Amino acid sequence: MSEPTVLLVEDEENLRMVIADALEARGYRVTAVATGEDGVEAARRTRYNAVLSDLRLPGINGIEVIRSIKSGAPDTECIIITGYATVETAVEAMRAGAFSYLKKPFSQDELFVTLEKALEHSTLRTENTQLRSEMGRNNSSSAIIGTGAEVERVRDTIGKIADTDSTVLILGESGTGKELVAKALHYGSGRANKPFIPINCAAIPEDLLESELFGYEKGAFTGAASMKIGRFEAAHEGTVFLDEIGDMSPALQVKILRVLQEKEFERVGGRHSIKVDVRVIAATNHDLDRAVEEKRFREDLYYRLNVIPVHLPPLRDRKEDIPVLLTHFMAKMSRRKNKTLKGASAEAVRLLEAYDWPGNVRELENLVERLMVLKDADTLITPKDLPERIRRRVREHQRNAEYIATLHGGIDFNAAVDNFERDLILDAMTKVKGVKKKAAEYLGINRTTLIEKMKRKGLLGPSEEPEELIKS
Ligand SMILES: Nc1ncnc2c1ncn2[C@@H]1O[C@H](COP(=O)(O)OP(=O)(O)OP(=O)(O)O)[C@@H](O)[C@H]1O
Ligand SMILES: [Mg+2]
Repeated sequence: MSEPTVLLVEDEENLRMVIADALEARGYRVTAVATGEDGVEAARRTRYNAVLSDLRLPGINGIEVIRSIKSGAPDTECIIITGYATVETAVEAMRAGAFSYLKKPFSQDELFVTLEKALEHSTLRTENTQLRSEMGRNNSSSAIIGTGAEVERVRDTIGKIADTDSTVLILGESGTGKELVAKALHYGSGRANKPFIPINCAAIPEDLLESELFGYEKGAFTGAASMKIGRFEAAHEGTVFLDEIGDMSPALQVKILRVLQEKEFERVGGRHSIKVDVRVIAATNHDLDRAVEEKRFREDLYYRLNVIPVHLPPLRDRKEDIPVLLTHFMAKMSRRKNKTLKGASAEAVRLLEAYDWPGNVRELENLVERLMVLKDADTLITPKDLPERIRRRVREHQRNAEYIATLHGGIDFNAAVDNFERDLILDAMTKVKGVKKKAAEYLGINRTTLIEKMKRKGLLGPSEEPEELIKS
């Protein structure tokens, strides 16, 4: 392994030279600077194993230096050097992410011991984060639940593109899982232990967006009492998630385009460019093609962002995922609320499958949360527990279907009988809480006949029993 690198920020020239010499003699590679600003700058260009920073500095102070460095390089261990060690400063330093502090005057030995401890800590943590990222890499897309071909395809795409630096554009209606996919991409990449910074372009007020994204220099405007780094800078070596990109102002579109092209920007009021290494993932629920046609969204930015598109279909187009999502959310809420439900009756599941879910997966998740709160523990979800909008929507669909049947010249006798039988079976299954033996008794037929009928009507999957499917 090459020698550990240390960044030293100390304004007193004598002390700076003495410490740097001592560290170099001990085998460290040292970069020594005199101001906090230079320290932050150096740490952005190079990853250091450790930072030693004086507390009192002419410009930004040591705490701010550490805070800024830690936000970009969380694995770098920071030590504060101070002549005024009070409990307050120590606490503040720790809060900013410092590993420990050195009180002036200190001996060479104290310096080495503190530094070595910090580096040991750092190595350990790097190993841990590597491990975590490895684990994430293998199954980060497994958080995306669904058995249908559509979701399978999305998981497959994530597996292929997560660990690249490609820009990804996620398209889908509200609540289809765009942010979930963005996170799976980040945690499945080599950037997993670096920041994932979401920016909701629609939620930040227009006049604040630029300083939010790019930060500002001290004195850039009234109220800018100290330098602040923006989200792009904070995301250095990580991922920026530009959410609701379709709502971004034309002025900002230009600036984002520049970051994507040149990988650099200026802080508001700043004179020099700052280089960043970020991966950009964008998402929108708008029809961007149309926005481009109507000149509301820059075409060049669109092509930059749309390197790899991922489409998330609305839930109504992948109803096969409803039962597994239901089970998934029931288990999740169950853990969170420390309460269990018996599952959903077959009839209730059928209603959920017939509903068209304008709020997509989020609407289903919210419904499960609500049921988990409202219903008594260990009871079964039945149609009467479902909100009126779901039951009404379904009734409308049924009426439409019947109406269409009359238009086509009457009804299909076999289909009608089949439907009638199906309803009888589902009702029976609901009454006996999904126990097939009891349902068969209730209907006065034998169990194998019941199972046979259920299979033919698609009420039983090829391998799974309905109990497993619908019960949590
Ligand atoms: N396939 C899925 N498996 C498990 N959970 C999902 C899935 N899709 C969405 N969710 C969950 O549904 C909720 C909404 O998803 P998310 O916030 O990612 O949607 P979105 O597309 O970003 O919505 P919006 O456009 O409204 O911001 C989240 O709690 C998410 O975890
Ligand atoms: Mg979202």
